[in-house]
This record gives sequence, C-alpha cells and structure tokens, in this order.
Amino acid sequence: MSKTPLAILILAAGKGTRMKSDKPKVMHELAGKPMINWLIGTCEQLTPQKIITVIGPNMDALAKAVEPHETVIQETRNGTGGAVKCALPALENFDGNILILMGDEPLVSLESLQELIKIGGLAVQGFDTLTPFGLGRMVLNEDGTLNEIIEDRDCTPQQKKISLCNTGNYCVPSKKLAEWVDQIGNDNAQQEYYLTDLPAIAAKDGVKTQVIRSHWKGPWGVNDRIQLSAHEKMLQQILREKAMLNGVAMIDPDSVYFHYDTIIASGTTIEPHVFLGAEVIIEENVTIRAFSHIEKTHIKSGATIGPFARLRGGSTLGENTKVGNFVELKNTKLDDGAKASHLSYLGDSEIGVHTNIGAGTITCNYDGYQKHKTVIAENVFIGSNAALIAPVKIDKGSIIAAGSTVTKNVPVDTLYISRPSHQIKEGWAKRYHDHKAKSIE
Ligand code: UD1
Ligand code: CA
Repeated sequence: MSKTPLAILILAAGKGTRMKSDKPKVMHELAGKPMINWLIGTCEQLTPQKIITVIGPNMDALAKAVEPHETVIQETRNGTGGAVKCALPALENFDGNILILMGDEPLVSLESLQELIKIGGLAVQGFDTLTPFGLGRMVLNEDGTLNEIIEDRDCTPQQKKISLCNTGNYCVPSKKLAEWVDQIGNDNAQQEYYLTDLPAIAAKDGVKTQVIRSHWKGPWGVNDRIQLSAHEKMLQQILREKAMLNGVAMIDPDSVYFHYDTIIASGTTIEPHVFLGAEVIIEENVTIRAFSHIEKTHIKSGATIGPFARLRGGSTLGENTKVGNFVELKNTKLDDGAKASHLSYLGDSEIGVHTNIGAGTITCNYDGYQKHKTVIAENVFIGSNAALIAPVKIDKGSIIAAGSTVTKNVPVDTLYISRPSHQIKEGWAKRYHDHKAKSIE
C-alpha cells in the first residue's frame, strides 16, 4: 500500500504522576489493551509514512508496545513543546503534514484526524465542554481562526469561562515545524515549553491556525484513574453497540464487559452482569446467562452457560453443551452435547460427546505438586458428588455411581461404585432422641 505523505508524532513521555502508578500512563489499559495501542491502531488506519512516539527514559515496555514503530526518548520532561523538539531529528528528511497527537487521548476518532489533515497548513482540534478544568482554552479571532491557546493555569478569570478547549492534536506542515518549535519559550506558570504556543508563533509568521470543533462527551484525555474509568465506560459502550449491531442480544448492555479481542457471533444472547476477559470466542446462538465470568475460552454454537459459571483459560465447549450454575472449568474440552449442569470443578480434562457430569463432581487434578489429566469418553454418566482422582480415564458408556471416588481407570460400559457399605438400624434414631431428652431433664 502506498503511504500518505503524513508523519504522526505521539507525545507519551509524561510520567503521568496523577495516575499514582509505576506504569507509564499510556500503558494503562482500556478493555485489556494499553491506551497507546488504541491510538496507534487509529493512526495506522491513516497509512502514514512514520509513527514516532516520544517516550521517557526507562520506558522499555512502552517502546516494545509501539513496535514496529519507532520511539524517541525525551530525557528531561520539560513540556509538550520540549517533547516535539526531541523528535525533530527523526523528522528531518520528511516532507508533508505532521500530525502531533497526545498519547493520553486514546479514543480520538479517525474521522476527526482525517478532517485535521484535510485542512492542512496549521490546524488544531478543539472541542466544547462544560468542564474545561485543566485544559488549554482556545481564543479565536473574529474570522474564526485561532489566535492563541492559553493553559488553564495561565488564564484570567474571564478566559477561564471559554468553553472551547484544546485537544492537543495538531496538524503542522513539516517545512515550518522546526522553525516554529525553536521559538517556543518557557515563560509560563509551569516554566515548561508549551506546544500550545505554536498558533501564536505561526501568526507572527503570517500563518493562520484553523480550528476543527469535535463533539465529545466525557473528559478529554486520561490524566487520572477517574478519567481512565470514564474512558473505559465510553469504550465499553462502543464495543457493546458494535456487538448489538452484529446481532448479539443483551438485556442490560451496561452490565456486560468486553475485552478488545472478544469475538461474538450473531444470535447469541448475553444476560446481565457478564464479564468477558481475554481471548473469548463465542459462536452463534449461544446463551450466556447472568453473572458469568469467562476468559480464554471458545464456546461453540448452541451452548448454554451459567448463570454463575466461571470459565477459566484453555477451555473449549462444543456445540449444544451446557455448563450450569456454579461450575468452574479450566483447561477443559467439553465435546458436543456434554453437560455439567451444577456445582462442579472440571480442570485439565476432556469430556466426551453427550457425557453427563452430575452435580458436585470434582476432577482432583492437582496432587500438591503436579497437574494431571482426566479423560472421560462419550456417553458416560457421572453420578452426583463423584471425585475423579487424576490421572484417570473413564471409557465410553460407563456409569460412575453417585458419591464414588474414582482412583482407577474405568473400562467401556462399566458401573464403577465406591461407597462405604450401608447400614440401616431401625428405631435407632428414636432411642437416641429419647435418651438425650431424658439426660437433660
Ligand atoms: C495538554 C495541553 C492542553 C490540552 C490538553 C488536552 C500543553 C501545554 N497542554 O495539557 O492545552 O487542553 O493537553 O488533553 O500542551 N508529554 C511529553 N513530554 C512532556 C510533557 C508531556 O511527552 O514533557 C506528553 C504526555 O505524556 C501526554 C501529553 O504529552 O501524553 C500531554 O501531556 P499532559 O501533561 O497530560 O498535558 P495536559 O496537562 O493534559
Ligand atoms: Ca493530558
């Protein structure tokens, strides 16, 4: 694919102190994927020649997360203007538009960036908000172009009332970038080099700054964990709507959580309060009942899960299988039509076609040192409250009597029963009660 004469610079060197975290801010996740990767994903759709991310020292995980795109290290975090200055050598031979984006704004829309590039020259993305606290205010000229951006800290009380705020996303012609950035000073409340000085510097050069006004609900950018959760909320809503448009039914979508890589086919119904973690694939016409927690599991068509099911990693559920309430599965393969309807733990196991797992069945897969496998063939009936001591194999058509502890392999069509022999003592209970009643008189 031919690449657009576009380079994208993402500023992500800030420590994100307001997050109170050891991780760089942009490595915090939304729907299980680092913020920076959401932004990079949107950038890639613009087919730029380069995507350069400015990072801080000792941010190796961040450098890795943006691979194969390049990174530049800003040794001293002296402001957004300083961050762009660091990246100038990497842009030296580039000729075209340069899109400068804030790394902490992961959900910026592709359409708004396309609009910004289309305007060309110097353009800035703004948005109107009723809660502009902490943001740069955009002061317009009479002709609607941008006169200057004033940071919240440097605003007069009158300027603080301006609702048009700076997103921090700019489109700058490569020919002018170095010249303008060199003129940025640090004479402000923070003594930092503010990239927001760019429009005023360009104006002196006779270049007017165009503004695009975007619509945005919620906080702009992630500076703390409250804003991170607000972004998660917005993203979850996007993922839910995408699923519903693809034919997934949800009674209460607000209580269903998706991972960025969740795959769900049409005709599936998800009841309230369901959490889908990483690597979940759900085929057509599956029903996920309320309060189920599912990770790293492939669920085939027609299956019914929950309510209150826990599907842990490494499981595959065949067509028309059933996993009922309070059943936990780990590393387990349920073949087509197999059922575990109530109160079971199935770990490191294979369950054959149409096998029925009775209530309370446990695969004892761990001996305190190692994990072992339980293999159950097709059409087996496991009675309630069976303990299957792995490694063990139960062959097809067999029946395991309720309450049995299975320690040996079970051949085809066998009844396996292990219970203490029973005793019936008629009248014993009455004698006991009479005796007790007398002794406390
Ligand atoms: C910035 C803008 C503000 C705008 C807001 C929108 C400036 C001076 N202010 O404020 O006008 O309304 O974004 O969200 O530009 N960064 C570096 N190196 C640094 C400092 C910051 O790479 O030395 C990076 C950060 O990692 C972050 C981005 O730049 O991804 C923005 O920095 P941040 O400190 O969050 O700026 P805001 O105060 O939000
Ligand atoms: Ca910010």
